[in-house]
Amino acid sequence: MTKRIQLAPSILTADFARIGEEVRSVSDIVDWFHLDVMDGHYVPNLTFGPSTVEAINRWCERPLHVHLMITDPSQYAPEFAAAGADRISFHPEVVEEPGEVINELEALGVGAGMAVHPDIPLSRVAPFVERLDVLLMMTVRPGFGGQKFLDEGLPKIVEANRLVRETGARADIEVDGGVNGSTIDRVVDAGVDIVVAGSAIFDGVDAPAAAKNLRERLDVLAGSSA
Ligand code: DX5
Ligand code: ZN
Repeated sequence: MTKRIQLAPSILTADFARIGEEVRSVSDIVDWFHLDVMDGHYVPNLTFGPSTVEAINRWCERPLHVHLMITDPSQYAPEFAAAGADRISFHPEVVEEPGEVINELEALGVGAGMAVHPDIPLSRVAPFVERLDVLLMMTVRPGFGGQKFLDEGLPKIVEANRLVRETGARADIEVDGGVNGSTIDRVVDAGVDIVVAGSAIFDGVDAPAAAKNLRERLDVLAGSSA
């Protein structure tokens, strides 16, 4: 029995002047859209807010995972939920009580996720894993698309899989950052349910072809690990 690994493009390097077309061009090939929200405080970059999420939601049928790289997830989560987010992930180190943010996300009716910065140990999220829908394992330092994959993240992904298995948690393991044709084999080998790919898909050349290539590779790898 092989497990289908899901593909989630990050739109960070897409052409924002044509964002609807960009999203639609790969919508049939992918499983999720991964939307990176940055506030200029948690990370030294700014992206977009709920109005963009709402517009993307109108343009595609796929579920939306909003990755909050912001210092105040509680303040903005309701707006992103109202804009159509299906899952919302936050970085636990920005809040005093991560469990309370999970309560808020549950009350909003969205899937709850925790994002794990490369410098943050898994022990920070372990107490909450049974309450999560997704554990977002970062393999770049958050802030920008198109960065180099951090190989040192691989053992942590293996450990995250073990944590989910041992606790019987439902959380998907989603790997975020630097995934492309050269790194995807290592990511699948470490264990992943959802793969984020930003610049590897929205490369300014041919997004649907790039998405299809990654999709095919995931199918081959899932087959070979059966
Ligand atoms: C980084 C973001 C990632 C990233 C993905 O802060 O969370 O989602 O942009 O883009 P690539 O695949 O280009 O690393
Ligand atoms: Zn992300």
